[in-house]
Amino acid sequence: MTPALWSSRFAFIMAAVGSAVGLGNIWKFPYITGQNGGGAFVLVYLLCIAIIGIPIMMSEVMLGRRGGKSPIGTMGAVAVAEGRSRGWAGIGIMATLAAFLILSFYSVIAGWTMPYIVEAASGGFAGIAAEDSGALFGGLLASPGQLLLWHSVFMGLTVLVSAGGVKHGLERAVTWLMPALFVLLLILVGYAMTTGHFGEALVFLFRPDFSSLTAESILVALGHAFFTLSLASGAMMAYGAYLKKEVSIARTSFTVAIMDVCVALLAGLAIFPIVFAHGLQPGEGPGLIFVTLPVAFGQMPGGGFFATLFFVLLLFAAWTSSISMLESLVSFLNEKGVSRVKAAVGGGLAAWLVGITTVLSLNLWSDFAPLAMFDRFEGKTLFDLYDYFTANIMMPLGALLTAIFVGWVMKPAHSAAELDGQWHPLWHAVVRYVTPIGVLIIFYFNLS
Ligand code: TRP
Repeated sequence: MTPALWSSRFAFIMAAVGSAVGLGNIWKFPYITGQNGGGAFVLVYLLCIAIIGIPIMMSEVMLGRRGGKSPIGTMGAVAVAEGRSRGWAGIGIMATLAAFLILSFYSVIAGWTMPYIVEAASGGFAGIAAEDSGALFGGLLASPGQLLLWHSVFMGLTVLVSAGGVKHGLERAVTWLMPALFVLLLILVGYAMTTGHFGEALVFLFRPDFSSLTAESILVALGHAFFTLSLASGAMMAYGAYLKKEVSIARTSFTVAIMDVCVALLAGLAIFPIVFAHGLQPGEGPGLIFVTLPVAFGQMPGGGFFATLFFVLLLFAAWTSSISMLESLVSFLNEKGVSRVKAAVGGGLAAWLVGITTVLSLNLWSDFAPLAMFDRFEGKTLFDLYDYFTANIMMPLGALLTAIFVGWVMKPAHSAAELDGQWHPLWHAVVRYVTPIGVLIIFYFNLS
């Protein structure tokens, strides 16, 4: 059974926003911004979204709709239709592999939200001090059993929706989820304004200090632009395949990207005032929101309720993202004659197994750095490496190849048939020159 087309432009936007908005916005954006020094990093990230991310999103949705298949099938079919080699399907293969690897660790992180829901609902955050919140988080990471349990539950939830066909249920869930998440973030920002450190956070996030910017942070910003928009991983291509012909790809892509950026910036505005107010470290790392937010919830009136709601919404946001990660693989297997249910269960099970190595990276294997012989990878655990290779290598490389394909290989008349006429010339010039050159320069400075 192939899923039918999205019922409307709105439904596609909701599904695409559901894919884009997730842990990347609320968990990853604040912590990497903290690690990379703030303002200058945020500026580079916004530039990457605008001049590389959005044109690539348009390209992927366009390719997906034109090919109408799984990302691997789509790339092969579109290339052959252009009179080129089926080998371009390699872009789809790398994308599917990246999505699979990301899903394996994403599920572990998403799992963290569940013990936090339990803790919040049972009043565990009331009046909690920053050190105690840190200890609570540390305790969770130190327990492979707990992490494995929640990782398993989350992967099960992902497989459940994926097996039923993504359209079913997803449309309706995202329609109320996204507005609710938005409102809750606004409430958190409102609270953050009362901490007396809001101005400091504004300066940190929006006043660029270019001395803190390294070649590596530019690569991290680029990788995150792809990650947060679910690009170079087949997700948008797979969803584009279910998009009706008459929908404007350019306008739709802008909408999705703008909503995604807004959520990330709101998360930053909610979190950094709290970080500064409690003397926490902006560069604290992946635990940043899990350590800071309980402290804030613990002090606000009705905090237990808001905390529970927040982590429930975060769980849902991660869920609608993880479903899209599995979609590249499931749609491919489905095309090869495997039933949707078997494909979802098999793919989920494989990602779950790989995810166990991420669980262990956080505790028993935290000193295991398999590539430590290279300076660049010193101290990086398996989890760090999955993150590094997908976001900093596979996704930029996939996007580079996609830009070359749509900019140089595909006939302009064919892309113009999908993209709105008014936007086509600008888009075409950008994917031909700006995107490839931008990615190559960033790669070059990182490797040299
Ligand atoms: N964009 C999502 C987030 O920011 C993550 C995501 C969903 C994703 N689908 C993806 C990342 C595919 C990479 C590939 O949380």
